[in-house]
Amino acid sequence: MGLIIAANWKMHKTAAETVSFCNRLLPQEKYFQGIEVLICPPFTALAAAAAALEGSSIKLGAQNMSWEEEGAYTGEIAPQMLKEFRVSHVILGHSERRHIFGEDDATIRKKFQRALYDELVPILCIGETEDQRNRGETEAVLERQLRAVLEGLEPGSIKELVVAYEPVWAIGTGRAASPSDAAAAASLVRAVVEKIFSSETGPTLRVQYGGSVNANNIGSFVALSPVNGALVGGASLEVDSFAALITAAKEAAGC
Ligand code: 13P
Repeated sequence: MGLIIAANWKMHKTAAETVSFCNRLLPQEKYFQGIEVLICPPFTALAAAAAALEGSSIKLGAQNMSWEEEGAYTGEIAPQMLKEFRVSHVILGHSERRHIFGEDDATIRKKFQRALYDELVPILCIGETEDQRNRGETEAVLERQLRAVLEGLEPGSIKELVVAYEPVWAIGTGRAASPSDAAAAASLVRAVVEKIFSSETGPTLRVQYGGSVNANNIGSFVALSPVNGALVGGASLEVDSFAALITAAKEAAGC
């Protein structure tokens, strides 16, 4: 499987700004061959993004969703509402959801199970805080976050899984993890997933790195084989920086 590069716009861009971004990105699409490119706009811009990207290979993801199908859940968005706008992926467990909005592993697990049920590809975010890293707990934290969501799921129920390793201290700080640390984390993710699922029933897994990724450093991450792409915040907000990042990844990975 090739690389997957996803833009997480967080709480940025109106529908109009999204259309303008997509219209400027589309002429670059011919340079993205061999890379799965995904844009995750805010909910309110999904319809505009779906219309603007119709007929293109650029996919759409959501940044969050409810674990419920429908009902009295004020302010929540159900998976089927996302699928109306050709959303194929959903980011779950982003550290901003965990740390600012109090999402715990149990909540993330429920959302994960709902994503599988509704056939959305989960992008499960995991990552240690700076304190946890300083205490030498990185591996234990990553393993716990993975097991809390994946352990005990029906064998064969996950076809495709993307895990984004995003160290919390690297997000939005300009201080990316070293490529070797990202590769070590990606290898750990692969080993834990292989321990949980047998090779016959295990998902197709890709591991992204996220945290201050840009066009200048992406190459050093994807050149190391355990890392299969990136989840990009700040550098995905401008067409030029995002397109440059994708072409740099393509060059470094030789795809
Ligand atoms: P930055 O690329 O802005 O550090 O954000 C990373 C991130 O949180 C992507 O989900």
